[in-house]
Amino acid sequence: MASSVGDIVDAFLKPVTKEGLEAISSRLLAQFETGLAKEKHDGEVKMLITYVHNLPSGEENGDFLALDLGGSNFRVLKITLDSENRDISQVDSKFSISEELKKSDQDRLFGFIAESLNNFKKENGITSKLPLGFTFSFPVNQTSLTAGTLIHWTKDFKAANCEGNDVVKMLRDASDARKFPDTDIVALVNDTTGTQMAVGYSDQDCHVGVILGTGTNACYTERLDAVTKFNGDRSQHDKVIINTEWGAFGDKGSLKDVITEFDKAFDSQPEVENGGSQIYEKMISGKYLGEIVRHAMLKLINGGVLFGGKSSDVLKKFEGFKSSYLSDIEKGECMDVLKNKCGLDPVTEQDCEYVTQICRAVSTRAARLAAAGIVTIVRKMGREKKCTVAVDGSLYKLHPEFRFRMRAAINEMLPCNGVIIKESRDGSGRGAALVAAVAKQ
Ligand code: GLC
Repeated sequence: MASSVGDIVDAFLKPVTKEGLEAISSRLLAQFETGLAKEKHDGEVKMLITYVHNLPSGEENGDFLALDLGGSNFRVLKITLDSENRDISQVDSKFSISEELKKSDQDRLFGFIAESLNNFKKENGITSKLPLGFTFSFPVNQTSLTAGTLIHWTKDFKAANCEGNDVVKMLRDASDARKFPDTDIVALVNDTTGTQMAVGYSDQDCHVGVILGTGTNACYTERLDAVTKFNGDRSQHDKVIINTEWGAFGDKGSLKDVITEFDKAFDSQPEVENGGSQIYEKMISGKYLGEIVRHAMLKLINGGVLFGGKSSDVLKKFEGFKSSYLSDIEKGECMDVLKNKCGLDPVTEQDCEYVTQICRAVSTRAARLAAAGIVTIVRKMGREKKCTVAVDGSLYKLHPEFRFRMRAAINEMLPCNGVIIKESRDGSGRGAALVAAVAKQ
């Protein structure tokens, strides 16, 4: 068991050396294959069929509505695609989703979405029935572009009576119950797919979409031949975008040599909605990194190594150490975070040095694990020499070092690669409109 700072850093980083990442990547690839083979399988990752077969051509035009549910905010957008100028403009409204609403029930959650959409239409004078793309960033078993059941909630959503139900129908029912005008829902989209589409609008080599935000996930363009479980019409298309739901990698033991005592300690708390699942996601994404660091700090406080053995009320609380503090600390604001945000006192320079080392180890492990996932996908497609990877999400955008560490690990695993990482601008909003536009054509 790790009890010094050096031990803790090693516990996080030893499993993610280049060799470690290669081993992790082979296991992930095996999980991808299992998920593609059969509808019902006992693998870890779902490999969901999105029914999106093509990237946008760039010729898409017109006005579209988009809904975006999946993180701490919910958004309604009106998006205008202008193919002549290759321009996308948007008007949007953002609403924060309260913890209470996340844990409410079907009618309240979907009623809130329907009401927000209805108000948005009124406020923006939208009277025509514009085609709508719905970005719903949870695992959905789609049977077409416009139908799919929520398999289970992830992140910290828990609204009752939604799992197992059709997402589009739940929205329609909530809307009908409130006698709102009919909506033309033409596409149900995961945020990864939206991200790939948003970059694909101007880059036909974009074959991967990755989210590194509250949660993490990736999608990619797969040959339909490789999707044995696809039982739709194969005559029309030769490829399809697969939503991997890679966040669940490790749920049946594939990452047991990577998990530390701190991952386990945080995941076994009663406040964690989905204890024991989404293991890869919990090691990578923004919602969880703060908790991992907090548990490592608590261990060092108990051992008398940090802050003279004295904790604080903030640090004792679930999510008392926010994931955004990892960014602040790596920007050099450690003393301010520990004293003023965490209420710790006294804090020495040595404490700051130790906490910074832990934050660096946790975010480096996350970046390297994400890199292993991306490399697995690029290799699976055989696109090592040329491939654009679209990335979106607050962790990627706001952490000062994450992107560089991820890039470095990709290059370690794939020397001389042609992988280009492009930051997507609002994949969840624009991407949904683009999928809607492609569907409409
Ligand atoms: C979670 C969801 C997944 C989503 C990801 C990023 O992993 O299950 O569908 O893409 O978060 O938002």
